[in-house]
Amino acid sequence: ATYETILVETDSRGTKGVTLLTINRPQALNALNSKVLEELIHAFAAYQADATQLCAILTGSGDKAFAAGADIKEMSDKAAADFFLDDFFSPWTAEIVKKTRKPWIAAVNGFALGGGCELAMMADFIIASDKARFGQPEIKLGVAPGMGGSQRLTRAIGKSKSMEMCLTGRMMNAEEAERSNLVARVVPHEELIAETLKTAATIAGMPPMAVIANKEMVNSAFEMTLDQGLIVERRIFQILTASEDKAEGMAAFIEKREGQWKGR
Ligand code: HXC
Repeated sequence: ATYETILVETDSRGTKGVTLLTINRPQALNALNSKVLEELIHAFAAYQADATQLCAILTGSGDKAFAAGADIKEMSDKAAADFFLDDFFSPWTAEIVKKTRKPWIAAVNGFALGGGCELAMMADFIIASDKARFGQPEIKLGVAPGMGGSQRLTRAIGKSKSMEMCLTGRMMNAEEAERSNLVARVVPHEELIAETLKTAATIAGMPPMAVIANKEMVNSAFEMTLDQGLIVERRIFQILTASEDKAEGMAAFIEKREGQWKGR
């Protein structure tokens, strides 16, 4: 497919099994308009459907921004009724987060503000450049987060910091984001994509069913009680023990060789 606002590379830079998605509106600091949403929904569905790809990376083009937010110019003249009747912002979670069973990493290369921070937090984890900046500045526009910020940020960094960020609209730098558990790792700006590709390649080299299962389990921790989550974990674990890749993985360990995955 050809897109107007995003770039898609499968087996990115020779990294087998890794798809790189880049939001490509650098002149608008990669602001998320409805075209970006429509194209990301399509690209994530294509990634999910492509059995040769097992990890994706989402980043922003240019040196300054991952995404500076939802597109303020597009939203400025919409009425409340339009937002309400369209259930504005709901497809981000319903079409991208919920339908993408394979993992994806946000490689945050600069500003991740408002919807940009919220999009990064939809990823399975975040790797940040040392130039990354995170924030929920919506309050300054007379609104509030609408793509999950108040919920995902609070779960990630806790009430006190999340409340302070949302109420003041201040930005957090990469060092604070790592200390606050918002991001998995901070890397030098110039090495962001190379480092994220390495991590993605590690994941893409794992047995595919186990990759999907691990993602599903960890996400369950946010959706249910401990008892329910432990049951989900055990059942998925038990199902995996019936896979051919489990037999191969354990045989490969005992025989001191690399596993050869069948994906079933
Ligand atoms: C549309 C945006 C934009 C955005 C930047 N641009 N952010 N366009 N929507 N969210 C555009 C600018 O208008 C400008 O276009 C160009 O990108 C470069 O931006 P500058 O402001 O000139 O860059 P700089 O001075 O370096 O400042 C960078 C910045 C600032 C601090 C990131 O751009 C900024 O504060 N952006 C808005 C951040 C924000 O409030 N995000 C939350 C959005 S609301 P021109 O054409 O002038 O060159 C949201 C959900 C809210 O996400 C839900 C409401 C219902």
